[in-house]
Amino acid sequence: MEILSFGSLNIDNVYCVEYIVKPGETISSKELKLYPGGKGLNQSVALAKAGVPVYHAGNVGEDGGMLMEYCTEYGVDTRLIRKVKTPTGNAMIQVSDTGENSIVLFRGANFENDIEYIKQVLGNFTAGDYLILQNEINCLKEVIDIASEKEMVIVLNPSPMNQLILDADLKKVTFFIMNEIEGYQITGRIQPEEILDEMLRRYPLSKVVLTLGENGAYYEDGKERIFQEIFKVDPVDTTAAGDTFTGYFLAGLMEGMNIKDVLRLSAKAASIAVTRKGAIPSIPYRKEV
Ligand code: RIB
Repeated sequence: MEILSFGSLNIDNVYCVEYIVKPGETISSKELKLYPGGKGLNQSVALAKAGVPVYHAGNVGEDGGMLMEYCTEYGVDTRLIRKVKTPTGNAMIQVSDTGENSIVLFRGANFENDIEYIKQVLGNFTAGDYLILQNEINCLKEVIDIASEKEMVIVLNPSPMNQLILDADLKKVTFFIMNEIEGYQITGRIQPEEILDEMLRRYPLSKVVLTLGENGAYYEDGKERIFQEIFKVDPVDTTAAGDTFTGYFLAGLMEGMNIKDVLRLSAKAASIAVTRKGAIPSIPYRKEV
Protein backbone atom coordinates (compact mmCIF):
# COMPACT_ATOMS: atom_id res chain seq x y z
CA MET A 1 0.00 0.00 0.00
CA GLU A 2 1.56 3.30 -1.13
CA ILE A 3 0.85 6.88 0.00
CA LEU A 4 0.78 9.83 -2.36
CA SER A 5 0.55 13.39 -1.10
CA PHE A 6 -0.55 15.59 -4.01
CA GLY A 7 -0.26 19.14 -2.76
CA SER A 8 1.37 22.50 -2.36
CA LEU A 9 5.04 23.27 -1.85
CA ASN A 10 5.71 26.75 -0.48
CA ILE A 11 8.58 28.90 0.64
CA ASP A 12 7.33 30.41 3.92
CA ASN A 13 8.46 33.97 4.71
CA VAL A 14 7.86 34.13 8.44
CA TYR A 15 7.71 37.55 10.10
CA CYS A 16 7.89 37.51 13.91
CA VAL A 17 5.73 40.39 15.15
CA GLU A 18 4.46 41.59 18.52
CA TYR A 19 0.89 41.27 17.25
CA ILE A 20 -0.80 40.61 13.89
CA VAL A 21 -0.86 43.86 11.89
CA LYS A 22 -4.24 45.62 11.74
CA PRO A 23 -5.83 47.01 8.53
CA GLY A 24 -4.20 50.32 7.56
CA GLU A 25 -1.35 49.86 10.06
CA THR A 26 2.40 49.44 9.41
CA ILE A 27 4.55 47.62 11.94
CA SER A 28 8.10 46.29 11.96
CA SER A 29 8.91 42.63 12.44
CA LYS A 30 11.54 41.49 14.93
CA GLU A 31 12.81 38.80 12.61
CA LEU A 32 12.29 37.38 9.12
CA LYS A 33 13.03 33.72 8.49
CA LEU A 34 12.59 31.55 5.41
CA TYR A 35 11.28 28.04 5.99
CA PRO A 36 10.06 25.24 3.75
CA GLY A 37 6.29 24.85 3.96
CA GLY A 38 2.99 24.50 2.13
CA LYS A 39 0.23 22.37 3.57
CA GLY A 40 0.92 19.57 1.11
CA LEU A 41 4.64 19.38 1.77
CA ASN A 42 4.17 19.81 5.53
CA GLN A 43 1.89 16.76 5.58
CA SER A 44 4.33 14.75 3.46
CA VAL A 45 7.16 15.62 5.84
CA ALA A 46 4.99 14.74 8.87
CA LEU A 47 4.43 11.30 7.33
CA ALA A 48 8.12 10.89 6.55
CA LYS A 49 9.21 12.04 10.03
CA ALA A 50 6.66 9.60 11.49
CA GLY A 51 8.54 6.89 9.59
CA VAL A 52 6.06 6.24 6.75
CA PRO A 53 7.33 6.33 3.14
CA VAL A 54 5.50 8.93 1.06
CA TYR A 55 5.58 10.21 -2.52
CA HIS A 56 4.93 13.90 -3.02
CA ALA A 57 3.45 15.29 -6.26
CA GLY A 58 3.08 18.96 -7.14
CA ASN A 59 4.95 21.74 -8.90
CA VAL A 60 7.88 23.97 -8.07
CA GLY A 61 9.52 26.74 -10.09
CA GLU A 62 13.19 27.26 -10.91
CA ASP A 63 13.51 28.66 -7.36
CA GLY A 64 12.26 25.44 -5.76
CA GLY A 65 15.66 23.80 -5.27
CA MET A 66 15.65 24.46 -1.52
CA LEU A 67 12.33 22.61 -1.15
CA MET A 68 13.61 19.63 -3.11
CA GLU A 69 16.68 19.49 -0.87
CA TYR A 70 14.51 19.51 2.26
CA CYS A 71 12.38 16.69 0.80
CA THR A 72 15.48 14.61 0.32
CA GLU A 73 16.75 15.46 3.81
CA TYR A 74 13.49 14.36 5.44
CA GLY A 75 12.97 11.29 3.23
CA VAL A 76 10.06 12.44 1.05
CA ASP A 77 10.17 10.82 -2.41
CA THR A 78 10.49 13.64 -4.98
CA ARG A 79 10.32 11.65 -8.22
CA LEU A 80 6.78 12.82 -9.05
CA ILE A 81 7.41 16.52 -8.33
CA ARG A 82 7.45 18.59 -11.53
CA LYS A 83 9.53 21.67 -12.27
CA VAL A 84 7.61 24.44 -14.13
CA LYS A 85 8.36 27.98 -15.34
CA THR A 86 6.05 29.71 -12.82
CA PRO A 87 7.79 30.65 -9.55
CA THR A 88 7.37 28.38 -6.53
CA GLY A 89 4.40 29.14 -4.28
CA ASN A 90 5.08 31.16 -1.19
CA ALA A 91 3.43 32.30 2.00
CA MET A 92 3.75 35.52 3.98
CA ILE A 93 3.23 34.46 7.57
CA GLN A 94 3.00 36.72 10.59
CA VAL A 95 3.60 34.99 13.93
CA SER A 96 2.71 37.00 17.01
CA ASP A 97 4.27 36.91 20.48
CA THR A 98 1.37 34.72 21.62
CA GLY A 99 2.05 32.18 18.84
CA GLU A 100 -0.96 33.09 16.69
CA ASN A 101 -0.45 33.33 12.95
CA SER A 102 -1.96 34.91 9.86
CA ILE A 103 -1.09 33.75 6.35
CA VAL A 104 -1.24 35.27 2.85
CA LEU A 105 -0.56 32.80 0.03
CA PHE A 106 0.97 33.31 -3.40
CA ARG A 107 -0.24 30.30 -5.39
CA GLY A 108 2.55 30.31 -7.98
CA ALA A 109 3.53 26.89 -9.31
CA ASN A 110 0.97 25.17 -7.06
CA PHE A 111 -1.70 26.19 -9.59
CA GLU A 112 0.09 24.72 -12.64
CA ASN A 113 -1.53 21.27 -12.48
CA ASP A 114 -3.21 19.93 -15.63
CA ILE A 115 -5.08 16.74 -16.47
CA GLU A 116 -2.13 15.19 -18.30
CA TYR A 117 0.16 15.60 -15.28
CA ILE A 118 -2.53 14.37 -12.86
CA LYS A 119 -3.11 11.23 -14.93
CA GLN A 120 0.61 10.65 -15.23
CA VAL A 121 1.09 10.95 -11.45
CA LEU A 122 -1.94 8.84 -10.48
CA GLY A 123 -0.94 6.24 -13.08
CA ASN A 124 1.71 5.13 -10.60
CA PHE A 125 -0.90 4.13 -8.01
CA THR A 126 -3.61 1.53 -7.73
CA ALA A 127 -6.73 0.54 -5.78
CA GLY A 128 -6.22 0.73 -2.01
CA ASP A 129 -3.31 3.17 -2.20
CA TYR A 130 -3.80 6.33 -0.12
CA LEU A 131 -4.03 9.85 -1.52
CA ILE A 132 -3.77 12.83 0.81
CA LEU A 133 -5.04 16.20 -0.43
CA GLN A 134 -5.38 19.75 0.86
CA ASN A 135 -6.76 22.81 -0.92
CA GLU A 136 -3.72 24.75 -2.10
CA ILE A 137 -3.58 23.34 -5.65
CA ASN A 138 -5.72 23.78 -8.76
CA CYS A 139 -7.62 20.84 -10.31
CA LEU A 140 -8.52 19.45 -6.88
CA LYS A 141 -11.88 18.24 -8.24
CA GLU A 142 -10.18 16.43 -11.12
CA VAL A 143 -7.60 14.80 -8.84
CA ILE A 144 -10.43 13.50 -6.62
CA ASP A 145 -12.43 12.21 -9.62
CA ILE A 146 -9.51 10.36 -11.21
CA ALA A 147 -8.29 8.93 -7.88
CA SER A 148 -11.79 7.77 -7.07
CA GLU A 149 -12.07 5.99 -10.44
CA LYS A 150 -8.86 4.18 -9.51
CA GLU A 151 -10.41 3.28 -6.12
CA MET A 152 -7.72 5.00 -4.13
CA VAL A 153 -8.44 5.86 -0.49
CA ILE A 154 -8.90 9.63 -0.52
CA VAL A 155 -8.01 11.66 2.56
CA LEU A 156 -9.02 15.32 2.32
CA ASN A 157 -7.90 18.13 4.57
CA PRO A 158 -10.20 20.89 3.21
CA SER A 159 -7.81 23.69 4.07
CA PRO A 160 -7.85 26.53 3.26
CA MET A 161 -11.60 26.34 2.76
CA ASN A 162 -13.10 27.95 -0.35
CA GLN A 163 -15.44 27.26 -3.26
CA LEU A 164 -12.97 24.82 -4.88
CA ILE A 165 -13.70 22.37 -2.06
CA LEU A 166 -17.46 22.70 -2.51
CA ASP A 167 -17.06 22.21 -6.30
CA ALA A 168 -15.49 18.78 -5.73
CA ASP A 169 -17.56 15.62 -5.31
CA LEU A 170 -16.98 15.18 -1.59
CA LYS A 171 -18.88 11.87 -1.54
CA LYS A 172 -15.71 10.36 -3.01
CA VAL A 173 -13.70 11.30 0.09
CA THR A 174 -12.93 8.44 2.51
CA PHE A 175 -11.51 10.53 5.36
CA PHE A 176 -12.09 14.19 6.10
CA ILE A 177 -9.58 15.78 8.47
CA MET A 178 -10.76 19.29 9.19
CA ASN A 179 -11.08 21.97 11.82
CA GLU A 180 -14.32 23.43 13.15
CA ILE A 181 -14.22 26.46 10.81
CA GLU A 182 -13.96 24.19 7.78
CA GLY A 183 -16.62 21.98 9.37
CA TYR A 184 -18.92 24.97 9.68
CA GLN A 185 -18.29 26.03 6.10
CA ILE A 186 -19.17 22.57 4.79
CA THR A 187 -22.15 21.82 7.05
CA GLY A 188 -23.44 25.21 8.24
CA ARG A 189 -23.33 23.85 11.83
CA ILE A 190 -21.36 25.48 14.65
CA GLN A 191 -21.33 22.97 17.50
CA PRO A 192 -18.74 20.21 17.01
CA GLU A 193 -21.20 17.38 17.71
CA GLU A 194 -23.66 18.89 15.22
CA ILE A 195 -20.93 19.24 12.57
CA LEU A 196 -20.18 15.53 12.99
CA ASP A 197 -23.89 14.59 12.81
CA GLU A 198 -24.35 16.62 9.62
CA MET A 199 -21.18 15.22 8.01
CA LEU A 200 -22.48 11.73 8.77
CA ARG A 201 -25.84 12.56 7.22
CA ARG A 202 -24.30 14.00 4.05
CA TYR A 203 -21.38 11.59 3.67
CA PRO A 204 -22.51 8.34 5.33
CA LEU A 205 -19.63 6.33 3.84
CA SER A 206 -16.91 8.77 4.99
CA LYS A 207 -15.00 9.03 8.25
CA VAL A 208 -14.41 12.39 9.88
CA VAL A 209 -11.72 13.81 12.11
CA LEU A 210 -12.69 17.19 13.54
CA THR A 211 -9.89 19.14 15.22
CA LEU A 212 -10.83 21.83 17.73
CA GLY A 213 -7.49 23.51 18.49
CA GLU A 214 -6.94 23.65 22.24
CA ASN A 215 -10.31 21.93 22.78
CA GLY A 216 -9.10 18.61 21.38
CA ALA A 217 -10.35 16.51 18.47
CA TYR A 218 -13.16 14.12 17.56
CA TYR A 219 -13.24 11.06 15.31
CA GLU A 220 -16.52 9.78 13.84
CA ASP A 221 -17.07 6.88 11.46
CA GLY A 222 -20.78 6.14 11.85
CA LYS A 223 -20.09 3.38 14.38
CA GLU A 224 -18.16 5.22 17.04
CA ARG A 225 -17.39 8.77 18.11
CA ILE A 226 -14.11 9.22 19.97
CA PHE A 227 -12.79 12.33 21.71
CA GLN A 228 -9.11 13.14 22.18
CA GLU A 229 -7.84 15.91 24.46
CA ILE A 230 -4.79 18.01 23.62
CA PHE A 231 -1.49 17.79 25.43
CA LYS A 232 -1.12 21.20 27.06
CA VAL A 233 1.96 23.23 26.08
CA ASP A 234 2.99 26.89 25.85
CA PRO A 235 2.54 27.78 22.16
CA VAL A 236 5.35 29.50 20.28
CA ASP A 237 4.06 29.15 16.70
CA THR A 238 0.94 27.23 15.67
CA THR A 239 1.94 27.09 11.97
CA ALA A 240 1.69 23.51 10.63
CA ALA A 241 0.19 22.09 13.85
CA GLY A 242 -2.82 20.92 11.81
CA ASP A 243 -0.54 19.50 9.11
CA THR A 244 1.43 17.62 11.75
CA PHE A 245 -1.80 16.18 13.16
CA THR A 246 -2.93 15.11 9.67
CA GLY A 247 0.39 13.50 8.72
CA TYR A 248 0.65 11.60 11.99
CA PHE A 249 -3.01 10.53 11.81
CA LEU A 250 -2.37 8.96 8.43
CA ALA A 251 0.88 7.42 9.63
CA GLY A 252 -0.94 5.75 12.55
CA LEU A 253 -3.66 4.48 10.20
CA MET A 254 -1.10 3.03 7.80
CA GLU A 255 0.51 1.17 10.67
CA GLY A 256 -2.84 -0.40 11.58
CA MET A 257 -3.02 1.23 15.02
CA ASN A 258 -6.47 1.47 16.63
CA ILE A 259 -8.16 4.84 16.24
CA LYS A 260 -7.80 5.85 19.91
CA ASP A 261 -4.04 5.38 19.69
CA VAL A 262 -3.90 7.11 16.30
CA LEU A 263 -5.66 10.16 17.77
CA ARG A 264 -3.35 10.21 20.78
CA LEU A 265 -0.27 9.97 18.57
CA SER A 266 -1.51 12.80 16.31
CA ALA A 267 -2.44 15.08 19.23
CA LYS A 268 0.97 14.55 20.83
CA ALA A 269 2.83 15.29 17.59
CA ALA A 270 0.77 18.47 16.99
CA SER A 271 1.38 19.67 20.55
CA ILE A 272 5.13 19.38 20.03
CA ALA A 273 4.89 21.28 16.71
CA VAL A 274 3.32 24.35 18.37
CA THR A 275 6.27 24.68 20.74
CA ARG A 276 8.63 25.29 17.80
CA LYS A 277 9.00 27.92 15.12
CA GLY A 278 8.35 27.40 11.41
CA ALA A 279 6.30 24.86 9.51
CA ILE A 280 8.45 21.89 8.48
CA PRO A 281 11.21 22.42 11.09
CA SER A 282 8.56 22.30 13.84
CA ILE A 283 7.28 18.82 12.90
CA PRO A 284 8.66 16.27 15.37
CA TYR A 285 10.33 12.96 14.52
CA ARG A 286 8.59 9.80 15.68
CA LYS A 287 11.08 9.15 18.47
CA GLU A 288 10.36 12.60 19.95
CA VAL A 289 6.62 11.91 19.92
O1 RIB B 1 -0.45 25.01 7.30
C1 RIB B 1 0.66 25.87 7.28
C2 RIB B 1 1.06 26.18 5.88
O2 RIB B 1 0.05 26.95 5.27
C3 RIB B 1 2.32 27.01 5.74
O3 RIB B 1 3.48 26.22 5.67
C4 RIB B 1 2.07 27.87 4.51
O4 RIB B 1 2.92 27.59 3.45
C5 RIB B 1 0.61 27.63 4.16
O5 RIB B 1 0.48 26.81 3.10
